[in-house]
Amino acid sequence: MTAAPDFVPPRSAPHALSTLGVVLVAAGRGERLGAGRPKAFVELGGRTLIEHCLATVSALAGGGHLVVVVPAALAPDTLDIVAAVSHSGSAWDVSVTPGGRERHESVRFGIDALPGHVDVVLVHDAARPLAPAALFERVAAEVRRTGDAVIPALPVADTLKRVGPDGVVHETVDRSPLVAVQTPQGFPRLGLAAAHDRLGSGENSPGGLGSGGLNPGGRGTASSGPTDDAEVVQRAGGTVRTVAGDMFAHKLTTPGDLALLEALLSAQSGDTIDLTS
Ligand code: CTP
Ligand code: MG
Repeated sequence: MTAAPDFVPPRSAPHALSTLGVVLVAAGRGERLGAGRPKAFVELGGRTLIEHCLATVSALAGGGHLVVVVPAALAPDTLDIVAAVSHSGSAWDVSVTPGGRERHESVRFGIDALPGHVDVVLVHDAARPLAPAALFERVAAEVRRTGDAVIPALPVADTLKRVGPDGVVHETVDRSPLVAVQTPQGFPRLGLAAAHDRLGSGENSPGGLGSGGLNPGGRGTASSGPTDDAEVVQRAGGTVRTVAGDMFAHKLTTPGDLALLEALLSAQSGDTIDLTS
């Protein structure tokens, strides 16, 4: 079987009245952080990353359904966290579901756990605990306006070089068309689910059934799996748009990011930052 080059994932027509779903992926092991526990359960300013994200999503106007995807062994602890921070008047329903070995599997399990009436989905990394509510709203609004996939993007400020395995610089790369992308990433539910199903069936994965070792879209990384959901959708032929990203959506990856996120948390809460300590 070969991948159909003209495959276009189903698209929802843009409309104002829609039900929002959020898939919060928190099932990674956090190996690069090395905190001795999965990253989403690490504390920042006295609250786990999951709690930060729960607070932000619960504040989104209009409500919806949030699925928190966690390592299976931590599902009971996560239910306790959810129960502790939820309040009866909230317009958000929250459920917890076990994740997979790879991030894209966790996303797929999260989509499958959303109720059928959810038609716009935001996928968010728990590893970006300070992404503000305004960013979620900006992405969701653009998905509803266009009916396409939408991702937050920031211009790249540093000079970029292409470097060989020996550490020697080959060239300076033109950074003007390059952006750094974040989450939450937003999608019409049908298109996202179809693209992930296609990836799960091997049609769009490198070396998978029908790929012939080539990426049908001619984009993304032919030698590795997708690193974000926009790439999954793009490989399936979908259009991906950008909106302005936010520096507070910084991702916790290594121990150095923890110090940066602590400073951002202080700035977000209006505290003075002491850069001397
Ligand atoms: N994630 C997930 N399921 C996986 C892998 C990752 O839900 N099997 C989530 C992580 O919990 C995180 C987000 O995807 O919120 C981004 O992944 P990453 O930063 O790579 O986190 P980890 O996989 O936990 O970190 P590492 O790669 O260092 O182990
Ligand atoms: Mg990872």
